[in-house]
Amino acid sequence: MDSKPTVLITGAAQRVGLHCAQRFVDDGFAVIITCRHLRAEWASRPLVGIDVIVADFSTWDGIQGLIDTLRQKRVRLRALVHNASLWLDDKDQQDAFQQMFMVHMQAPYLLNNAFNELRDPGLPADIIHISDHVARRGSARHIAYCSSKAGLEALSLSYAARLAPGVKVNTIAPALVMFNTDDSPEYRAKALSKSALGIEPGPEVVYQSIRYLMDTPYVTGTCLELNGGRDLK
Ligand SMILES: NC(=O)c1ccc[n+]([C@@H]2O[C@H](COP(=O)([O-])OP(=O)(O)OC[C@H]3O[C@@H](n4cnc5c(N)ncnc54)[C@H](OP(=O)(O)O)[C@@H]3O)[C@@H](O)[C@H]2O)c1
Repeated sequence: MDSKPTVLITGAAQRVGLHCAQRFVDDGFAVIITCRHLRAEWASRPLVGIDVIVADFSTWDGIQGLIDTLRQKRVRLRALVHNASLWLDDKDQQDAFQQMFMVHMQAPYLLNNAFNELRDPGLPADIIHISDHVARRGSARHIAYCSSKAGLEALSLSYAARLAPGVKVNTIAPALVMFNTDDSPEYRAKALSKSALGIEPGPEVVYQSIRYLMDTPYVTGTCLELNGGRDLK
């Protein structure tokens, strides 16, 4: 493998994950991302400095297949970022809870269990879970999403205890980071009005938060609230 420190980001073919992957490359890291399918645009514009592994976390075999591939490649990780996420409405899909449990909890659990053999023993190491502000608030309409993200946050605490002192384990809980292209002007205005700072910050704030958690030697088992002051309004 690459002699550069290596970061694995799950579900990073787009948006926040892809931005963070590209920023890690800019800053001299080797980067591995996972995604469920290769993107057509990569044929004409290949990702530079990013190794892509196709992995679907909806089944145990899909998750285990990723771990086996990482072992075969003799990957030595500096950091693991659990970014993959699924947002389903409880009402629309009967198996919504099961699907989100697999992505938000089962995959992080199995990857974290394998982390000690996947990490670079010569470097400090970090696991970072990307949760969501709503996990701590609850939501009458999105119970499965909130509770599976809350489970992800709980994994942070237990793995911070289990893997110390060699590995720091933390959560980042963003509120609005970036809109989806089809979000209506009304939705955008309402979402912006919820935080004291009232901005759509973009994905760089997530990268800054990841780097803070990686660079500080004295923070583990915490949740970094990345929400523009949502609790102040
Ligand atoms: N964007 C925001 O404003 C915001 C706000 C709060 C929290 N967050 C959190 O920040 C993180 C990044 O947000 P985002 O908006 O960039 O997320 P996103 O666009 O929804 O991307 C998440 C990725 O997860 C992957 N994924 C979904 N189901 C999967 C499965 N079964 N197996 C493997 N991968 C799967 C998808 O991969 P494929 O593309 O390959 O299908 C998708 O690209 C997420 O954890 C999200 O919950 C974001």
